[in-house]
Amino acid sequence: MDERTTSPVIAQQLQHRSVRKYLDEPVTDAQLEAIIGAAQRASTSSNQQVWSVVAVRDADRKQRIADAVGGFDYVALAPVLLVWVADLARAEELIRAQGVEPEALDYMEVTLLAALDTGIAAQNALLAAESLGLGGLFVGGIRNNPAAVCAELGLPRRAFPVVGMPIGVPDPAEGTGIKPRLPLEGVLHHEQYDTERWREATAAYEESYRDYFESQGVPNRSWARTVAGRLGPVKGLKGRHTMRESLRAQGFESK
Ligand SMILES: Cc1cc2nc3c(=O)[nH]c(=O)nc-3n(C[C@H](O)[C@H](O)[C@H](O)COP(=O)(O)O)c2cc1C
Repeated sequence: MDERTTSPVIAQQLQHRSVRKYLDEPVTDAQLEAIIGAAQRASTSSNQQVWSVVAVRDADRKQRIADAVGGFDYVALAPVLLVWVADLARAEELIRAQGVEPEALDYMEVTLLAALDTGIAAQNALLAAESLGLGGLFVGGIRNNPAAVCAELGLPRRAFPVVGMPIGVPDPAEGTGIKPRLPLEGVLHHEQYDTERWREATAAYEESYRDYFESQGVPNRSWARTVAGRLGPVKGLKGRHTMRESLRAQGFESK
C-alpha cells in the first residue's frame, strides 16, 4: 500500500502566503502562458470552462483599476494583474448558435457554477505561479467597483470580474510569514458534522493566530474579532452589499 503523505505539490501548497510586494522584475509572457495553461487543466463543471482571464500589464490601466476599487498598491504595482472573469458570454453565443434559448443562464445555479469554476482555475494559477518562484494573491477588492472594472476591461454582458490576482517576483523585504490556519479539527469532520469539534479548534486557533500577528508586529489580533468585523456588520462588506445588483447589471440574473 502506498501511504505517501507528502509530495512536491503538497510541499508547495503548505508554503503558500499572499504576496503584496514585488521586485521590479517582469513576469514573462512564457511564464504567464504556463500559469494560465495550468489553470486550464483545473476541473471545470461539465467541461464548460465558463471563465476567462484578462492579463493587465499596462501601468496606467492597472493604476486606474486600483484607483477605482480602493487604491491598492499591490494592484497598481504588480507587473501583471490577472482579472478572473466568470464568463457566460461564450456559452450564450454557443447556445444561441445551436438555435436554443439560453434560459438556464439566468439562474443562480449557473452564477454559482461560473464563480466556482473561475475560483478553481484561479487557485490552480496561483499555485502554478508560486511553483515558479513567483507570488501573488487573490483580490476580492476588485468587486468593490464591478462597473468600473467591466468598463476598463471591455467585458461583455454575461462576463463578471470575480477576483483579481496581482502576480510578480516576491520582494523578500515584505517579510510576511505563513499565516496559520485553523487546526485540522476545525474543518475536517468524520461521517457527520460536529459543531463541538470546531468550537474547540477555534478556541485553540486564537493563540497561534495572535502569536503570528505579534511576530509581524501587530499585537492583540483576534481571529474571532476579525471574522466578526468582516462578516458581522454590513459595512464589513466594504460596499459589496450591492453585489446582486452588480451581477444583474452584467447579465447574471441569478434567479
Ligand atoms: C477570494 C479571496 C479574496 C481576497 N481578497 C483580498 C483583498 O481584496 N485584499 C487582500 O489584501 N487580500 C485578499 N485576499 C487574501 C486573504 O486575505 C489571504 O488569503 C488570507 O488572509 C490568508 O493569508 P495567506 O493567503 O497569506 O495565507 C483574498 C483571498 C481570497 C481567497
